[in-house]
Amino acid sequence: MKILLVGSGGREHALGLGLDADPACTSLHVAPGNPGIAEFAQCHPIDISNNAQIVALAQEIEADLVVIGPELPLVNGLADDLRRLKIAVFGPSKAAAQLEGSKTFAKEVMSDAGVLTAQSFTCSNKVEYEKALDTFGAPYVVKDDGLAGGKGVVVTRNRQEALAHAISCKRVVIEEFLEGPEVSLFGISDGVSILAMQPAQDFKRSGDNDAGLNTGGMGAYSPLPWAPSDIIEDTYTQVLAPIIAEMNARGTPFVGLLYAGLALTDRGTRVIEFNVRFGDPETQVLIPLLKTPLATLLYKAATVGLADTVLEWRDESAVAVVLAAEGYPTAPLNGGTISPLPAIENVQIFHAGTSRSEQGLVSSGGRVLTVTGVGSDLTEARDRAYRAISQISLPGSFYRSDIALNAAVAEKGN
Ligand code: AMP
Ligand code: GLY
Repeated sequence: MKILLVGSGGREHALGLGLDADPACTSLHVAPGNPGIAEFAQCHPIDISNNAQIVALAQEIEADLVVIGPELPLVNGLADDLRRLKIAVFGPSKAAAQLEGSKTFAKEVMSDAGVLTAQSFTCSNKVEYEKALDTFGAPYVVKDDGLAGGKGVVVTRNRQEALAHAISCKRVVIEEFLEGPEVSLFGISDGVSILAMQPAQDFKRSGDNDAGLNTGGMGAYSPLPWAPSDIIEDTYTQVLAPIIAEMNARGTPFVGLLYAGLALTDRGTRVIEFNVRFGDPETQVLIPLLKTPLATLLYKAATVGLADTVLEWRDESAVAVVLAAEGYPTAPLNGGTISPLPAIENVQIFHAGTSRSEQGLVSSGGRVLTVTGVGSDLTEARDRAYRAISQISLPGSFYRSDIALNAAVAEKGN
């Protein structure tokens, strides 16, 4: 089958490798892709917000399946435009993508589906902001109601800062602070049924020990040796299946990847957020561990259904560390030269923000590379990822040194 993958990040690099590795995939095209993806797929320089050009490319290459990576084209209705032409798509409709596109919508769906989340108020003026902030008290959680590329959320003990963020966003969701470890658990849905993937954990802050600013994600690992043994089953029953049923009941079935960001609180699991696409960098640890052929899996989700499908995983661990450009996440510097990438067994280096220039490979985004190590346990996977990333130089770049550290230590102790 001919596949068109949309996107250009580390997530798409990992998805592209997974799709390409499935013998069912006979040719892989990517719009726009990146230099890492160009090593094994045909890249087309198209802006991901240009639905018409992506649809035209899908027609031109006679794509049997389009896989949409980032949220922007989903929220822009790219999946609808393709389905109108009877092209199979892995990715939700514009209406279903509102689960990520609007925090208020996500809260309504959760409430109707009986899915537990933080209590919240949607507010749009100063009187409402102050009332909501004082109802919950510190730490304050203020979220831009619309898409904000991971930068719309402020969590702070400082009421002034919380209020200032609300004022700068206008329409916000102000909610109860959830205490407990965070887990990313993804489900692959055909609109009726949903297959839960194994959980991963993402590191959102820019610095070690969770210091610094919120980012798109500085690293991830999977599986989670410390997580409750029934976490997959529980999340399926309490979160994923009810949301899929509710979206169906509303006449807007969800076909694609449902990303549940969870907090494991002492009162039980609560949903922090939904995304409507694979997470980045969680995908860069999950795809290397997934044994189920990816192209066939996503094609079934988009067409005949997943009723007879099970997910199979390697009995190994993966740790991904993100190499970020100087100034990330506030004002990342582009154009720095990246040294030749090392080739190390059991290590995959995914391009996220790179481009080719006369000097060779240069940085062109905040998150430049994701380096994933795979091993028999988290310690081995970490060692491999860190050995590889320490051999890459990009002036001013940085990475966290504590990705999966606590989990690896705890795992060794067991
Ligand atoms: P989001 O974009 O909704 O994932 O939020 C970004 C990050 O803010 C999350 O990964 C959490 O670390 C944090 N966060 C969001 N909502 C809450 C909450 N209700 N309680 C505690 N932390 C939160
Ligand atoms: N890793 C967080 C995200 O993809 O939104």
